[in-house]
Amino acid sequence: MNSTDTAKTPKGLFIRTYGCQMNVYDSERMRDVLRPLGYAPVDGPEHADLVVVNTCHIREKATEKVYSELGQLKKMKEASGGRMTIAVAGCVAQAEGEELIRRQPAVDLVLGPQAYHKLPEMIARASRAVGDRLETEFDTQEKFDALPKARDVDGPAAFLSVQEGCDKFCTFCVVPYTRGAELSRSVDDIIVEARSLAAQGVREISLLGQNVNAFHGAAPAIEGGPDWTLGQLCRHIAKIGGIDRIRYTTSHPRDMDDDLIAAHGDTPAMMPFLHLPVQSGSDRILKAMNRGHTAAEFHEIIAKVRTVRPGIALASDFIVGFPGETDEDFEATMELVRKTGFAIAYSFKYSQRPGTPAAEMFGQVPEDVKDARLQALQALLRDQQTAFNAEQIGQTLDILVTGRGRMPGQVHGRSPYMQAVHFDGPADLIGQVASVRISGSSLNSLTGEFITAREAAA
Ligand code: SAH
Ligand code: SF4
Ligand code: F3S
Repeated sequence: MNSTDTAKTPKGLFIRTYGCQMNVYDSERMRDVLRPLGYAPVDGPEHADLVVVNTCHIREKATEKVYSELGQLKKMKEASGGRMTIAVAGCVAQAEGEELIRRQPAVDLVLGPQAYHKLPEMIARASRAVGDRLETEFDTQEKFDALPKARDVDGPAAFLSVQEGCDKFCTFCVVPYTRGAELSRSVDDIIVEARSLAAQGVREISLLGQNVNAFHGAAPAIEGGPDWTLGQLCRHIAKIGGIDRIRYTTSHPRDMDDDLIAAHGDTPAMMPFLHLPVQSGSDRILKAMNRGHTAAEFHEIIAKVRTVRPGIALASDFIVGFPGETDEDFEATMELVRKTGFAIAYSFKYSQRPGTPAAEMFGQVPEDVKDARLQALQALLRDQQTAFNAEQIGQTLDILVTGRGRMPGQVHGRSPYMQAVHFDGPADLIGQVASVRISGSSLNSLTGEFITAREAAA
């Protein structure tokens, strides 16, 4: 079969995505890469000719899920008479490539996060049973250059990857090993992609990177080059017609520079929401984690951000039970949470990851202690989240309407503070920003009454 024949035959594609937003973005881009080959998404793996499992290596549990899913796929592949091709992508693929193929021989292809632009040639090789089944080279620049410029997006909110990789080497974390060194995309490339998103009706762009505020993209062709910071990039994207909301994730306290903070005050399109992982409130633990800042420095950043953007919603990530964490250290984390006040936060029990320095440290914390600390922290965070949501009652908020609600006649969307909002309104509001008066709140969402729709920013 030649390549033209291949393109004409429709084939079913199913991608299962685990992990962070970078993986969600990567899965979308894999769809873009595979579309010219005739692959179209199907509802479930059982109907697919190609199944891609896009994996996460961050905690042990995430990795275990991959192997159990592959066991199920193996059975489906056998039922399909071997027609199904199974590919494993993402961070487990990068970290455990060889072992994956050994442990689960039903896997046809293994490709790391910087290799998915090579999917078409890998599929061709697999169908002829020649060549390597493993692609885990790091060439982030080559990948970005090779990706199709056109995106096919669904809905008014989209991710846009601007930076990848990490050079920070927090002692608990696998990301520097699975995603490679830090690299920023060029500003020109990002703007082309942002414009194409706007042309498809996207109104909210979330800029992504493992360390998104370490962004320093080359901008030779644009005023202010040669190297742009994230603040400059956000201000520029805000000028693209149709884009009226910008977010970025995930940022690091060490890279929270004054210009980015200022942009929160001077650029209305920058949504009043900041996800700034802190991990711990204990300076001793922050040092052992190699985070490169103290709790006091975190509070200083938050104070500056709140000065330029009062009312901004704060989000963070926490790890409990890092090696050597005492009751006092944990109490310092609780104190940091009480002092800051978070709109939402993600908290995890420390998970020992092979190959990371913390996995070898003395003072690993027993599981039951981790459990108790996680419960205490999550109870506090839940209270703060519930209180933050309740504060919105009586306010009129701009809601980006993203889809139909569960009840007939209902739509749902997202507040500037990232809260899910449900309200009665016509389906033609989907894709628009609606003014909604908030009348109810719970831990996870808000309800309200529709007032009026708003025009897109020119
Ligand atoms: N780049 C981001 C975080 C990426 S990983 C940052 O610097 O903060 C997402 C979150 O997973 C981290 O913020 C951390 O809270 C959690 N995490 C990472 N490694 C972990 C581990 N070994 N055990 C438990 N949680 C971990
Ligand atoms: Fe992991 Fe730290 Fe890099 Fe975040 S900054 S990705 S936690 S090593
Ligand atoms: Fe997981 Fe890789 Fe993201 S390990 S959190 S999918 S960068």
